[in-house]
Amino acid sequence: MRVLVVGGGGREHALCWAIARSPLLTALWCAPGNPGIAEIATCAPVAVTDIAGLVAFARAEAVDLVVAGPEAPLTLGLADACAAAGLRCFGPSAAAARLEGSKTFCKEVADAAFVPTAGWARFTDPDAARAHLRARGAPIVVKADGLAAGKGVVVAASVAEAEAAVAEIMEARVHGEAGASVVIEEFLPGEEVSFFALCDGTTALPMAAAQDHKRVGEGDTGPNTGGMGAYSPPPAFTPGVEAEVMDRIIRPTLAEMARRGTPFRGVLFAGLMLTPEGPKLIEFNVRFGDPECQALMLRLRSDPLAALLAACDGTLAGHALDWDPRPSLVVVMAAEGYPGAPRKGTAIRGLEAAAAVPGAQVFHAGTARGPDGALLADGGRVLAVGALGTALPSARATAYAAVDRVDWPGGFCRQDIGWRALSAEAAPRGGPAGSAG
Ligand code: AMP
Ligand code: GLY
Repeated sequence: MRVLVVGGGGREHALCWAIARSPLLTALWCAPGNPGIAEIATCAPVAVTDIAGLVAFARAEAVDLVVAGPEAPLTLGLADACAAAGLRCFGPSAAAARLEGSKTFCKEVADAAFVPTAGWARFTDPDAARAHLRARGAPIVVKADGLAAGKGVVVAASVAEAEAAVAEIMEARVHGEAGASVVIEEFLPGEEVSFFALCDGTTALPMAAAQDHKRVGEGDTGPNTGGMGAYSPPPAFTPGVEAEVMDRIIRPTLAEMARRGTPFRGVLFAGLMLTPEGPKLIEFNVRFGDPECQALMLRLRSDPLAALLAACDGTLAGHALDWDPRPSLVVVMAAEGYPGAPRKGTAIRGLEAAAAVPGAQVFHAGTARGPDGALLADGGRVLAVGALGTALPSARATAYAAVDRVDWPGGFCRQDIGWRALSAEAAPRGGPAGSAG
């Protein structure tokens, strides 16, 4: 089987790393890939948004399966273009990818399927949005309606903060056209988890849950990011919760999408809040999370390629996945300045030493090679360092032991990945149960 993975971040490195061990695999490409991916796949210089270029490349190389990493190519119609060219693509059609591309569409589908989610209203007029905020009061959530790289959301503790968000999103257009309209939502209290299910249009197969760390600062403070670290599974996500999520959120959504004539194929990523009233949907994404994917791939023991193929071919019913019961934990290393403008071009050393920590895995996210071959930071989130452990504290100890071997003065990471699950049993890293080894 000849496979092309589309993307060039930590998620795609993890997907390539997992797919590379499949006995079905005969050749692996990644477009555009990155220096870490280049060690296990052939990188092709095609941009993720160049749909025609990706399809032409896949045809020229007689690729059997195209695997979409990020959402951008999916919302631009990669799966549709592949289907038209007779190519298999793991990922939804553009019409089904609207579940992520439009927050309004996501809410409409959720409401039609009676999926438990936060109450919401959409506004194209900033004054009407402000009036609604004042009427509802805080805490309240303001979201840019379009794609804003996970950054167009403000969880406002006060009405003033919410009004400032409306001004930034709708009037200053800090996220561009994604801010032409806003969705204002009821605040959901609780523990947040990411849950992933493989879908083939009619059947959904639960994968696993992970907990991301969206804020840039320790203790979940500071601005939102794409994700600063993850671990899997979150202890709060019990088998009972998973069954409820499958019955009340995933399967009804899949049925509603099929009813609308836009069946969902690919991986459905449910951002969930485990509220006192039960799990509620925050949002859907139509791809793996980053860095959740890294945490999941560390635990997936069965053949990833066979599972992706079953999702494409409509044969998920009867398919089973085998997960390592041991938890995984992933620490993202980001360039100084992130999630604002990250400093690019700083030198990264010590990755061999980091990868030599037994049980550790280093995924490249935003790296590039300089003219002399030196490894340089080339993005906001630059590395994702992960590990499995017999329990979460040992997974964390191994991951941070590897992080400590990375010699990169231009980077930083959160020191407290896993803290929600670990807080009952361990002090922050460096404390009595610390792991700064
Ligand atoms: P989103 O891009 O919709 O996932 O939102 C980004 C983050 O904002 C989420 O991961 C949550 O942490 C938070 N968030 C979004 N919507 C809500 C909500 N209705 N209640 C509480 N927190 C929310
Ligand atoms: N880590 C969250 C996301 O990939 O959207």
